[in-house]
Amino acid sequence: MLHFNKINDTRQQLHAWRMAGERIVFVPTMGNLHQGHLRLVEHACQLGQRVIVSIFVNPKQFNDKDDFAAYPNTLEEDFSKLQAAGVDALFLPAVEVIYPDGHQKNSEIIVPGLSDILCGAYRTGHFIGVATVVAKLFNIVQAEVAVFGEKDFQQLMVIRRMVNELCFPIEIIGVPTERECDGLAMSSRNGYLNTQERQRAPLLYKALKQAKSQLQSGGEDIPGVEVQAQQRLQEGGFRVEYFSVRSAKELSLAGPGTQDLVIVAAAWLGKTRLIDNIRLNFG
Ligand code: PAJ
Repeated sequence: MLHFNKINDTRQQLHAWRMAGERIVFVPTMGNLHQGHLRLVEHACQLGQRVIVSIFVNPKQFNDKDDFAAYPNTLEEDFSKLQAAGVDALFLPAVEVIYPDGHQKNSEIIVPGLSDILCGAYRTGHFIGVATVVAKLFNIVQAEVAVFGEKDFQQLMVIRRMVNELCFPIEIIGVPTERECDGLAMSSRNGYLNTQERQRAPLLYKALKQAKSQLQSGGEDIPGVEVQAQQRLQEGGFRVEYFSVRSAKELSLAGPGTQDLVIVAAAWLGKTRLIDNIRLNFG
């Protein structure tokens, strides 16, 4: 597996592949790779001839400095996993490469509306940081396709909208959430959970599944289902930020006529913030 730290070296190699007619697929990550990331890579391998992964812990998307500082760095293991998965190139820039003048001074991409709700309401500036770094990475890599996880549903929507509205010549593919055997969505942050919290953590997905089946059976209205789920989670030791039934197209509040729905949730277990979602279609 090739690996690059510099923008120009990355561009040169990718240019050569492109000139040889090879389709380049890009998987951006922040490292500390788990099976969820590897599922994206697996998918990427099927979509083109060359797969490039980036590992960059983006300071601009962390609204909490301590959270950024504590973000796990497992580069050696990540490297081996990517190599074993058949990745062609790894882009591993330093912060100064991406933000030579500091991330506060960098031009920004704002995806209005979508960025300020749900996770955006609780993590000020988070999606500006995500959209900005993803735009930069897209311009460095210039892949034809990029692969993202549906686990970060709002992030995927922000990126899709950015790509559409700013006419980025790239196709965005979403991959379903990879879960532990007990249903917990895989996440780099799961490693922060202590034993007791880890035992409780699957309740988040369980609450999403219960809410889905309540809505499917038609006996309950949306606000009632949301309140019951929030109570269930609180009783299970979570501090809930939101548990909300939304339109899967806009992430706007769902009404009785909305067909394509997503239930999105964010909740804390101790010092760990977990997010998850489940789709629901009445079409
Ligand atoms: P990171 O959290 O490392 O995630 C990288 C990609 O892996 C994202 O597209 C995310 O949705 C996906 N992913 C994470 N857990 C997953 C799971 N359990 N199943 C399927 N996919 C999963 O998301 C980011 O990094 C950053 O915000 C980034 C897009 C790289 C921009 O900095």
